Amino acid sequence: MSTATPWADGRLLSLQPRRPGVLFGRMYEDPGVDLAAFPPPGARVLCIASAGDTAAALAAAGHQVTAVDVNPAQLAYARARLTTGAPAATGAAERLLALGRAAAATALPAWRPAALERFLRLDDPAAQARHWHRHLDGPGLRLLLGAALRPAGALAGGLHPAFRAVLPRRFDTVLRARLARGFARHPNADNPWAWRLLLGRELPGAGRVGRELPGGGPPVRLLHGDVVEHLERSPAAAYDAVTLSNVLDGPDPAFARRLRAAVRHAVRPGGIAVLRSIREPGPAGPGAAAEDRCPLWGVVRVVRL
Ligand SMILES: C[S@@+](CC[C@H](N)C(=O)[O-])C[C@H]1O[C@@H](n2cnc3c(N)ncnc32)[C@H](O)[C@@H]1O
Repeated sequence: MSTATPWADGRLLSLQPRRPGVLFGRMYEDPGVDLAAFPPPGARVLCIASAGDTAAALAAAGHQVTAVDVNPAQLAYARARLTTGAPAATGAAERLLALGRAAAATALPAWRPAALERFLRLDDPAAQARHWHRHLDGPGLRLLLGAALRPAGALAGGLHPAFRAVLPRRFDTVLRARLARGFARHPNADNPWAWRLLLGRELPGAGRVGRELPGGGPPVRLLHGDVVEHLERSPAAAYDAVTLSNVLDGPDPAFARRLRAAVRHAVRPGGIAVLRSIREPGPAGPGAAAEDRCPLWGVVRVVRL
């Protein structure tokens, strides 16, 4: 069956070359959420390959990891990082983030790197929340984010149409609220995603998630293809847990129905599925989104099957 996901194009922006490229040089999800929900070490787990960080973290925790990606460039990149310790590269997402940071640093003194570093060294969420509201989340940031992220904004307007349709309508306001939620909850000083997003740098002295992935770490089975097709073809109850970020951000509702059926087939009864989405939550609420130290997520749904 042919894939119906726009992620197969390997393009985040309409203007990117037509061949698939590396979209994510790093990952923007906190495997602590998955590890807390998953069965004890040794479980058969499936994740999306993306940049390889989550696969490495799950393998380091002792799980038997399969990582799948429909974008061949992303899979080759994750393979190089996981097996030979290849250095992290800059993907399309990091280029966009760097543009945003450069615009903010030029226009807003509180967003210059030295000032941001002082903010990122804080370890008291209450102090971080005060700093965020007093110094960082001002009218200048609102203007910049509005210009970039409103539906016809400089960034949102240039996205691949399937992803443009996924972004919450006022993503500028939504994103500021998600950042405020994260800074009010998780200490910056040891939050790799706060450093990565705000400063474009890795957390100084970071643990495994923040460092280059050591090649030759615990083996990860890497597969190219659509994860829905992989789950459909897998033996029943082949996995104890799966974590699937962004897989439903783009495809149509029929794809979502196929994915749910495929997860029920391939994950054993009592197993766990984690689904992350950038969308705003529906009636079921945000799930564990606030617990993810990466503040970008709208929904992190943890389901026991
Ligand atoms: C997991 S997310 C990566 C962004 C995420 N926020 C992160 O932190 O890395 C997107 C990745 O999922 C892959 N992907 C999306 N849908 C897929 C599918 N149906 N099958 C396999 N890979 C898929 C994309 O190619 C991309 O590498």
